[in-house]
Amino acid sequence: MEIIDSFFNICYLRLAFLRLNTYMGLLIRNIKGLIQVENNPRLKVCGKEMSLINTISDAWLLIKDGLISDFGTMKEFYLKKIVCETKGEDEEIDASGRFVFPSFCDSHTHLVYAGSRETEFTDKILGLSYEEIAERGGGILNSARKLHETSENDLFLQSISRINEIISLGTGAVEIKSGYGLTVEDELKMLRVIRRISDSSPIEVKATFLGAHAIPAEYRNNKEKYIDLVINEMIPVIASEQLADYIDVFCDRGFFNPEETERILMAGLKYGLIPKIHANELDFSGGVQTGVKYNALSVDHLERTGDAEIEALVGTDTMPTLLPGSAFFLGLPDPPVRKMIKAGLPVSLASDYNPGSSPSGNMNFVMSLGCIKLKMTPEEVINSVTINSAYAMGLSETHGSIARGKVANIFITKQIPSYQFMPYAFGSNLIETVILRGSPC
Ligand code: NIG
Ligand code: FE
Repeated sequence: MEIIDSFFNICYLRLAFLRLNTYMGLLIRNIKGLIQVENNPRLKVCGKEMSLINTISDAWLLIKDGLISDFGTMKEFYLKKIVCETKGEDEEIDASGRFVFPSFCDSHTHLVYAGSRETEFTDKILGLSYEEIAERGGGILNSARKLHETSENDLFLQSISRINEIISLGTGAVEIKSGYGLTVEDELKMLRVIRRISDSSPIEVKATFLGAHAIPAEYRNNKEKYIDLVINEMIPVIASEQLADYIDVFCDRGFFNPEETERILMAGLKYGLIPKIHANELDFSGGVQTGVKYNALSVDHLERTGDAEIEALVGTDTMPTLLPGSAFFLGLPDPPVRKMIKAGLPVSLASDYNPGSSPSGNMNFVMSLGCIKLKMTPEEVINSVTINSAYAMGLSETHGSIARGKVANIFITKQIPSYQFMPYAFGSNLIETVILRGSPC
């Protein structure tokens, strides 16, 4: 038996040796912990499974041609005498004392916006609610005004600096919504900026059309007319320029109701735009049920989630996505995550990076909020910001875990005692090296 075993070992070692010496690549050695490793990749992780993270201690990871090629333990590495070093073909990084994570996938942002809204921040501190600020012409309409006055190039420059910031904070894939345009021209301006980001940055980008984000002031007494504009003018032109992957609606009190949401989703679906909904942030809006009915990829926010919403989500393909940064910033109630996980649901977490309710795209902080505010374990939050958030942006076949053949989007931490230290030590920047598509950034 032992002889057969060692025969197969030798064959395997030869294969590994050949494979490792075929291409130029990047070898990371002596990794204290390789996190979220998958030998049999999954599309998402649900319920109890969310409390498990597969890790390899004292590991190596090989990247070839921008993809994850192979990984294993250092013991096996020395046993195999993987001799890339002697050939000098591969670049090497010694990750002693450091952890390697798959990059964060941030499946919900509005990071293309003009200027900022810190005056409303003060209004909030002094007691006004998000809805009161919106009613005074602040909020989304304030950002729409600023965006209208900003050139496309300027908007790109402001947005790409946010992109560079989130890359340095470990994000490797991001979904970005329109919705601060609210006219055909300005929605197109936003979506073209999103496309330009996608073309010019190594980060993976998904674009969402969110024309139904607010009702512009001039349509205040004629919401129907604005919905007509979204359905009959915005969607066809956006689809013809292939500027969006998804369609979103702010289905909540004071914005769009379920019936209006359905009409907008149906119009988008006709053009192949897959639904993702802003639901149940301000009220039990029916947004979750509407999203499920239209097989939304995700329903997001969910601060007002009861048994009916949980029941509606169980057994569906729709990913509940929580945005603890905006609940924290606005002082909203926390969604009942423990109940959701107990019911067998998957959960994803995203930043909601936007100027009004979450002016931060820091997914490290989102992880900490998941643990501290939502009472999720470090393992659950790691699943929520990697594989499950990749699912929520249609990317879990290629992103969101360390698996052979997936895109090599990873980050290497500083020297830290454990992977749980990441969400625990909130506010510290613990990321030392970012690698996107196999290249250090
Ligand atoms: O997800 N809730 C709707 N939209 C954004 C906020 C937009 C804004 O206030 O600018 C959100 O929180
Ligand atoms: Fe949002």
